Parts: sequence; C-alpha cells; structure tokens
Amino acid sequence: MINNEIRYTLITGASTGIGYELAKLFARDKNNLILVARNKIKLESVKNELSKYNVDIKILALDLSKSEDIQNIFNYVEINKVNIDTLVNNAGIGTFGDFNDIHWKKEEELIDINIKALTRLTKYFLPKIVECKNGGILNVASTAAFCSGPRMATYYASKAYVLNLTEAIYEEYKNDGIKIACLCPGPVKTSFQGKAGIKKSEAAKKYLMDAEEVARICYKDFNKGKLIIIPGKKNKLLVIGNKFLPRSISRKIVLKTNRK
Ligand SMILES: NC(=O)c1ccc[n+]([C@@H]2O[C@H](COP(=O)([O-])OP(=O)(O)OC[C@H]3O[C@@H](n4cnc5c(N)ncnc54)[C@H](OP(=O)(O)O)[C@@H]3O)[C@@H](O)[C@H]2O)c1
Repeated sequence: MINNEIRYTLITGASTGIGYELAKLFARDKNNLILVARNKIKLESVKNELSKYNVDIKILALDLSKSEDIQNIFNYVEINKVNIDTLVNNAGIGTFGDFNDIHWKKEEELIDINIKALTRLTKYFLPKIVECKNGGILNVASTAAFCSGPRMATYYASKAYVLNLTEAIYEEYKNDGIKIACLCPGPVKTSFQGKAGIKKSEAAKKYLMDAEEVARICYKDFNKGKLIIIPGKKNKLLVIGNKFLPRSISRKIVLKTNRK
C-alpha cells in the first residue's frame, strides 16, 4: 500500500542543463525531489540552491550506466520508504561521428543510459505511480527521435526508442489518472553538445534554445497532460515538415547538417 503523505519527484541528470532547470520548476511548485547524477558536488550545490523552496531534497550521486547503481536507487527508496509519484528520465548522452569511428564502449554507455536505465526505472516506478493515481512519467527524447541520424546513428536511434516506448505506455495507461509525456527538444544550449564532441558553427549556435525556456515549456505542457512536447516553433515546424518528406530525403538533410 502506498503511503500518500510524502511524495517525491525523481529527476535523473539533475546536476546540469535541462534536468537542473526542471528540478527548479518542480521545487518551486513544492514537489519534494530526489536528484540523480554522477557529480555529487554539483548535486549538493543544486540542493543548496533549491532549499529556498522549503521542499525536501535528497541527492543520489550514481552512474546510470552501471546496473548496480540503478539497483541502489531501488534499494534507497525501499529502505527509506520513499514514494515516487513522478519520474523524470532526463539523463542522456550523445556520440558523434561516423559509425565505424565511434568506439563500442561509448556506444554501450549511451545505450545503457539513454535506453536501459530509462526503461528499467520506468519498469520499476510505473506500477507505483499508477497506484498513486497522480503524478506521472516524463521521458526526455529529442527531435532526433523523428528521423534517422547519420553521424549520430546510435543517439538518434536511442531517442526514437524513447519516443516509441513513451507513446506505447501512454496508450496503455492514459485512463489511469497519470501523466505520461515525451519531451522532444531541438538543439539546446547545455554541455551536452561539447560532451558528445559536437562542434556547432556560429550560424548553428543561433538555433540553440535556452535550457530554462525548454524546461518551462516542458513543465507547463507536462502538467497539462500533453504526450509529445516539442519546445519552440522552429522545432515544431521541422518535425511536421519531416512527416511530409520521404525518409531518404530527411536522412540526407541530417547527414549534410551533421557534416557541417
Ligand atoms: N542539449 C541538447 O541539444 C539536447 C537536445 C535534445 C535532447 N536532449 C536530451 O536532453 C537530456 C538532458 O541533456 P542536457 O542537454 O541537459 O545535457 P547535460 O547538460 O549534459 O546534462 C546531462 C545530465 O545527465 C547526467 N548524466 C550523464 N551521464 C550520466 C550517468 N552515467 N549517470 C547519471 N547521470 C548522468 C549529467 O550529470 P553528471 O555528469 O553529473 O552525471 C547531467 O546532469 C538528454 O537526454 C539529452 O539527450 C538534449
């Protein structure tokens, strides 16, 4: 039986970027938080910053590419009897380059975080969230989910997986009083690009959205119960336009963009 009194929102990848901005919004609206990322110092600093909202914040410095660390999340919530009513699967990494040039270890890490951890956390928490009849699951994909991505093949494929999984779960549980959503941002000004080895031209930098704006739109649409959240008019147009293009053309455009 779920104890309805103290509930938490668990956010992965909450130390920087979109996850950090989402954490601020959830805390502002009086949601208790469990923040997950590897960097303990950054998590502590986020916790200190958000303490002004008078919510309970717990931090878990863990590596989501490691199976035992994910088990540690489950152990933590079970031992401490913490109820999660909202799960935000935001942590994600990218790889960049021709498929043969990217080392398997990097691709494996990407699959472990973007796909395996997200699925395992969803599998564990969804039944509890359904039981709560409140809250929901917010998975972070990308506009990359809508087409194939030459020179970022595994990343685009991982985000297509996230979108497909989220849509399927939405259909199964949409009448259970919970929210299930997939955030699909276009390029965002965070450390993601640099870590993935993507060098943006000055022209391309103009199209980067601020993480704060992305999180604000996402948070509002998530609370409205929207399934697919695409922040920004340009990104929406791009996704709609892509639906009318033959896949062979859209992947050529992505290749050209990713070669620049
Ligand atoms: N930025 C973009 O252009 C863009 C566009 C579309 C979609 N997205 C998606 O948005 C999500 C957030 O990315 P972002 O742009 O905010 O990037 P970011 O600033 O690099 O943030 C990524 C977050 O994930 C955490 N993380 C990375 N590896 C981890 C691991 N092994 N275990 C636990 N946490 C880990 C990082 O913290 P630690 O390093 O402390 O672990 C950080 O908090 C990702 O899923 C990304 O694919 C980003």
